[in-house]
Amino acid sequence: MLKRSKEAVRKNSMECLKVEHLSYSYRIESEPVLKDITFKVSKGEALGIIGLNGSGKTTLIYCLCGIFPHYLNGCMEGRVLVNGKDTRETPLYELSSEIGIVLQDPNVQILMPTVEDDLAFALENHNIPREEIRESVNRVMELVGITSIKDENPNNLSGGEKQLVALATVLALNPSIIVFDESLSMLDEQAAERIISVMQKLKEAGTTLIIIDHTFKGLNVYDKIFLLEKGQIIRRGPKECILEDKDFLREHKIIF
Ligand SMILES: Nc1ncnc2c1ncn2[C@@H]1O[C@H](COP(=O)(O)OP(=O)(O)O)[C@@H](O)[C@H]1O
Ligand SMILES: [Mg+2]
Repeated sequence: MLKRSKEAVRKNSMECLKVEHLSYSYRIESEPVLKDITFKVSKGEALGIIGLNGSGKTTLIYCLCGIFPHYLNGCMEGRVLVNGKDTRETPLYELSSEIGIVLQDPNVQILMPTVEDDLAFALENHNIPREEIRESVNRVMELVGITSIKDENPNNLSGGEKQLVALATVLALNPSIIVFDESLSMLDEQAAERIISVMQKLKEAGTTLIIIDHTFKGLNVYDKIFLLEKGQIIRRGPKECILEDKDFLREHKIIF
């Protein structure tokens, strides 16, 4: 009995994201954009979500991060558990230290006049003591490789540097899950490589990654892939298995 319950605890701690029968419509009377989606992601896994424009990728990750239903109510059925916390019942500020999201356009995530202030800002909102803020900001700048630009105005940085700053602001809260919504798509090869190398470091450190990337620049990082089409996961599995069925990918207009 004891052995079984210990096993259950171990299994639960491995599952950091659990989605159960998730459906979402932007309006009650409209066709669901997500249809009965169920999956789990374990701690330290890197999941790539691939799908054509309009397949529901962004809607799905907004549900994972709690942006829906907290910001936009729509019509959400089923439930999402982030490290065991039901997103419906957990306030966004609390969810943001469990799951962070890096968007396609870093400009919407950058708010303060210097890089360093920008990183500290998120932590100040969480009432973290000043000394702890300084340590976290320094740790994250080092990890992402932006210490040398800490006094710069983020608005004057290149697109790639801005995306690194946006990623750093998310990392400052030390979430165990990070979601990238096409964060590589506006970047040139070299800038994307810098983000990908941070993704690799995060993965090695046990962070769970969910990556939406229609450019497939981050392909090397993924362990497994979900193919999303019209709001449904039409195929899921280890990366190698998904990629080897070229006919299926072509049939569904997913071209590498
Ligand atoms: N705010 C919104 N209101 C109504 N419909 C929306 C809204 N945002 C997205 N949609 C619709 O939901 C579907 C999925 O969109 P989205 O999740 O953005 O897909 P993807 O990220 O895969 O391109 C699309 O048909 C899109 O038009
Ligand atoms: Mg999208």
